[in-house]
Amino acid sequence: MTVYPVAGSKWVDVQKGEVSRDVFVDDGIYHTELEKIFNKTWGFLAHETEIPAPGDYVVRKLGIAEVVVARDRQGKLQAFLNSCRHRGAQVCRADSGNARNFVCPYHGWTYDQTGALLTTTFDKHLPKDVDMSALGLPKVPRLEVYKGLIFGAWDADIVPVASYIGDFAWYLDPFLSRSPGGMEVLAPPHRWRAKCNWKVGALNFVGDAQHILTTHVGPLTLDPVRAARSGFATAAENSFQVVDERGHGCTLTYLAPGLPEEAYQTHPKDLDQIYRETLQPGQMEMLNRLRVIVGTIFPNLSFIETQVGPAEKAVIMRQWQPVSGTEMEIRSWILAEREATPEYKSNVLRKGFHNFGAAGVFEQDDVELWASATLASDNTIARQFPYSFHTALPYLNNPDEAHQGPCKVFRPADTEVAQLEFMRRWGQLMEPIA
Ligand code: FES
Ligand SMILES: [Fe+2]
Repeated sequence: MTVYPVAGSKWVDVQKGEVSRDVFVDDGIYHTELEKIFNKTWGFLAHETEIPAPGDYVVRKLGIAEVVVARDRQGKLQAFLNSCRHRGAQVCRADSGNARNFVCPYHGWTYDQTGALLTTTFDKHLPKDVDMSALGLPKVPRLEVYKGLIFGAWDADIVPVASYIGDFAWYLDPFLSRSPGGMEVLAPPHRWRAKCNWKVGALNFVGDAQHILTTHVGPLTLDPVRAARSGFATAAENSFQVVDERGHGCTLTYLAPGLPEEAYQTHPKDLDQIYRETLQPGQMEMLNRLRVIVGTIFPNLSFIETQVGPAEKAVIMRQWQPVSGTEMEIRSWILAEREATPEYKSNVLRKGFHNFGAAGVFEQDDVELWASATLASDNTIARQFPYSFHTALPYLNNPDEAHQGPCKVFRPADTEVAQLEFMRRWGQLMEPIA
């Protein structure tokens, strides 16, 4: 029996293929993560199309700190802490909207769209030498846009977001920018909570092909479109996992061979033409063979592209926001190409949320089991027994050298290599070598 005490422990044992359960339930580890991971990495804030006009804003979290992401009068993006400099109240109480100024509901301090303080309403009582310009809402020190995604970072010295994503961009870009107009968020994100650690979601999306046929047996059996096209067991052999040393990863499941020709026309033909203008031939080939791709950009932004109707593929962005050691808040956005027809977009939106919204058929399956695993793990007896990632071990040191694309690629897709590599990166940041 392996016992992993919390303090000074080795939480991730890549060689043994084991990860301590503490990592998924402990509040002390959660607080350390906020500092060592969420204060040190890029975090997704919003998609540019959520705030297209001057004055538009959304309220989001960067780590667990709430921030307002706004477009100012000049059309420039701004992000600042949503906590008044007077007594800390949330200056903006709505999830999203359009505002000329932000007036704190407590005593009326008023800030503009850049977070600068305009008035305290009691300026006449301020000492003459007080510097109003130093009392603005604290800015997120780094703000960058990558293919429509707005990222922020609390670490002013972090590498540019394009370097942070690195070679993984080759796999990611076909889902963020595959047409001249780029992607568009179709509606405000769904938001809900789950009683499990944020990493459970991140791991599920980085590469948990093993849960599909058990967890999701219901919808897979009931939906004839999926049943005809899935062929998961066969496809796993032709499919693969991608691992990037920065902790990003994805699992590509290709359509099984031998299906009727029309099964491989998974995107509308007119969009197919547009993709060719933007993507490299290798990326185009990947897109056309895909049944589903799921992936995670370290630490907590995931994406999925999957068939949601006979000729509709939805791109879904997911964020697993930490709340405590045993709780997270999930946000889910549905995207489509800006060039797509209104009818296509409305189908993608409706069917996308039917599958992956807060009450989506797949979501219901997953979240119930994630909460069950957390409940059953969060006690001093269960915590003595690490989680098993053993199916990664025979493959871990054997990447597919013949593969043409960047990053490390592993076959087949239904092992735990990508999950263990995600945990390896997590461990490096949490327990840096002295
Ligand atoms: S807390 Fe905002 S004005 Fe007082
Ligand atoms: Fe799932």
